[in-house]
Amino acid sequence: MADNKELVTVKNLEAAFAGESMANRKYLYFAKRCRELGADDVAELFEKTAEQETAHAFGHLNLLYPPEQLTVDKMLEMAIDGETYEYTEMYPEFRHMAVKEKNDAAVEEIDEQIAESKEHADQFTTMLEKAAKRFSALTKVEERHANRYRDALKKV
Ligand SMILES: [Fe+2]
Ligand SMILES: [Fe+2]
Repeated sequence: MADNKELVTVKNLEAAFAGESMANRKYLYFAKRCRELGADDVAELFEKTAEQETAHAFGHLNLLYPPEQLTVDKMLEMAIDGETYEYTEMYPEFRHMAVKEKNDAAVEEIDEQIAESKEHADQFTTMLEKAAKRFSALTKVEERHANRYRDALKKV
């Protein structure tokens, strides 16, 4: 398989993942509105379909992020990168344009998203630090066990 072919497929999988993910959220949003409008049967169809869109999105993720390559640290790091990009680059840029276009509702919503993305990044960072501490604590416990074992052997 040619390299560029692989690249195109990876890009296509990313685009397909984005599309399926969006379909999932959009259908859940539509379902909520259908229920408000009293169309429960349509809401149910949207909810059922949304679930299948999640399965489709996971299928693409499976290829983009093979599970055997995912460690807890790696996943937390990717999440931190994503949230940090959102609140330091993407949303500030969008906010700038929204101000320029005098879209006050968008500015207000973007400000909330900036605050929440930062909160998410902070929570993931705290969890990553906790995981690192747990790992070093575990290493220490193992060291202690090994030492005790060695001491016990010496006494024999
Ligand atoms: Fe789909
Ligand atoms: Fe977020």
